[in-house]
Amino acid sequence: MSSLYAAGILGTGSFLPEKRLTNHDLEKIVETTDEWIHQRTGIRERRILEEGASALSMAKSAAKKALERSGITADALDLIIVATVTPDYLTPSMSCSVQAGIGAVNAAAFDINAACTGFIYALNVAQQYIANGAARHVLVVAVECLSRVTDWQDRKTCVLFGDGAGAAVLGRVEEGTGILASLVGADGTQGGVLTLPAFHMTDADRAVRSEGKTQVLWMDGSEVFAFAARIMSDSVRKVSEKAGLLVEDLNWIFPHQANMRILQNAQKRLKVPMDRIYSNLEQTGNISSASIPVCLDEAVEKGLLKKGDTLVLVAFGGGLTYGATAIRWTMD
Ligand code: UT7
Repeated sequence: MSSLYAAGILGTGSFLPEKRLTNHDLEKIVETTDEWIHQRTGIRERRILEEGASALSMAKSAAKKALERSGITADALDLIIVATVTPDYLTPSMSCSVQAGIGAVNAAAFDINAACTGFIYALNVAQQYIANGAARHVLVVAVECLSRVTDWQDRKTCVLFGDGAGAAVLGRVEEGTGILASLVGADGTQGGVLTLPAFHMTDADRAVRSEGKTQVLWMDGSEVFAFAARIMSDSVRKVSEKAGLLVEDLNWIFPHQANMRILQNAQKRLKVPMDRIYSNLEQTGNISSASIPVCLDEAVEKGLLKKGDTLVLVAFGGGLTYGATAIRWTMD
């Protein structure tokens, strides 16, 4: 595919709510232990948005920070894409509310839903708008308030998820830098293993849920685990190859933060050292689409990313979906 312009990340931002819910707090809510949760998932605590606060407030904070870091003003944005499965409203979309909230008067705006792969899908779309000249600057935000769709009586899922938002401003970069390659995919035949109903529920979905649990997230954890174990390493390999990079030469891999055992599994399959796989899972839990951009912003803040570094972002999630992005880092 030929493109007019190379697209890259010009600035990152993130927001995590103040309130921490620890594994010990969860011991008082469901029959579980800090030891079980940490051993099986790697998680110690997650952030929870306070009652009455909006997901929009998290999205705006992350977006403003990304804009500030990129040096781009809100009125220079041509497009805003928000990835979320937990919007405050279905309409207006989160992206329209973000557009209003940050004063991006010249930006078109739409939301996408690719569950935990949402940020990767949004980057993929943003890149194409920039590559073909249809947009000069694109804001991508991933925001999730999973605590509001969690079944707090289900110990199999309530220990996993948290709230937060991450953002990136994309624009033109030098040829051969920025997003080098990306891939996105789905296996809709496995959609039933991770569900969050809206206005209709299938008989199959109703059958696996406990009585009355119609508005919460349901998951067959081991099926998702099996899918993730295979797709994470496959996607890293494929996108690296597409970008002309060797997996062993990558400076960083930023995987979706779902379970430490999934990350360790990918690490073994890819034969890369664990210290090149970024993780903040222990402190944030799984924030779905927001997990990768929150990690990226943390890494930027810690000064871990250098101009010229090669990165692969990789995710899987509900749908089932998967995707990966190979990047030559352009921020100083
Ligand atoms: O972002 C994408 C979304 N999701 C994921 O990535 C999740 C992928 N899956 C996973 O991370 C794992 O499958 C889980 C962490 C969800 C579960 O771990 P597991 O090792 O697959 O455990 P399991 O579901 O096979 O359960 C093993 C046992 C069961 O007890 P029995 O039936 O063997 O007596 C569960 O009832 O562990 C029990 N269990 C718990 N025990 C204490 C399940 N949850 C808990 C808990 N505390 N919180």
